[in-house]
Amino acid sequence: MKEKIATLKKEKNAVILAHNYQLPEVQDVADFTGDSLQLAVQAKETTADLIVFCGVLFMAETAKILNPSKKVIMPVSDAGCPLADQLTPEMILAAKAEHPEAAVVLYVNSTAACKALADIVCTSANAVAVVESLAEDTVLFGPDSNLAGYVQRNLPEKTIIPLPPGGHCYVHSEFTAEDVEEARRRGGRIICHPECPAEIQAAADVIASTGGMVREATGARVWNVFTEKEMAWRLKKIYPDRTFYAKESAVCHDMKKTTLADVLRALEEEEYDITLPGDVMERARGAIERMIAVSG
Ligand code: 13P
Ligand code: SF4
Repeated sequence: MKEKIATLKKEKNAVILAHNYQLPEVQDVADFTGDSLQLAVQAKETTADLIVFCGVLFMAETAKILNPSKKVIMPVSDAGCPLADQLTPEMILAAKAEHPEAAVVLYVNSTAACKALADIVCTSANAVAVVESLAEDTVLFGPDSNLAGYVQRNLPEKTIIPLPPGGHCYVHSEFTAEDVEEARRRGGRIICHPECPAEIQAAADVIASTGGMVREATGARVWNVFTEKEMAWRLKKIYPDRTFYAKESAVCHDMKKTTLADVLRALEEEEYDITLPGDVMERARGAIERMIAVSG
């Protein structure tokens, strides 16, 4: 399958982009693996004719929005993000009516229709820098309330209003004080994603996006990785001489839907095509481009 994928990729001038949480065999055939921000930048800059996006829907939509003349496909049709689905355009409009002075900052883990209502988008790699760049003191921030809390603690001079109040990712919110205790008994440093609850962030040695974890892992030999379990595999692949412990039950089921067979079939049949209404793309693009301008 890997050989067939390589041949088809060349024939069709395709690029395979994969998120850090994808299955190991999918990451192995990808041209680029990274975090949400890195994948968005890759999608914007690629010269390939066909982008095969191995991740979840909001990521493939972001790729399409940033490079609309390219064909962007996902190997499965139903890989979504339950966190992104917790926020609706109606919720944003209601919050804006209540707080007309506030800027709207949306985590990239949101639908395209929501992004079209945002002043600016952010990822976990640049959320603090994005909010800091704004003139407004009050910010409506959604849909992840743990990332909103992280931004608030880093920028106490701003007022961050989480939208919706308890928005969360089920994979990251299941990290507990027992996981911290177990990691401390085992030894090594704790690196956590800012989608983890506030008490886990407070106990961690480092807080980082998945791309940030790749950079930070040079700082110690043993790490307890508090995010989706495949991240530990990814780090081990990059740093084979270091030890990375995962929480085996921390699984994003949507990220696991894409198999190698799906990638091959996607390249053969050029499915599933990402399409979005033109006006939504246009408005969402502005918010994403503003983020890229801030984070470089
Ligand atoms: P990153 O941008 O850090 O890869 O995070 C994406 C995500 O979905 C985390 O759950
Ligand atoms: Fe969404 Fe959580 Fe999966 Fe990330 S890990 S894609 S936030 S459900």
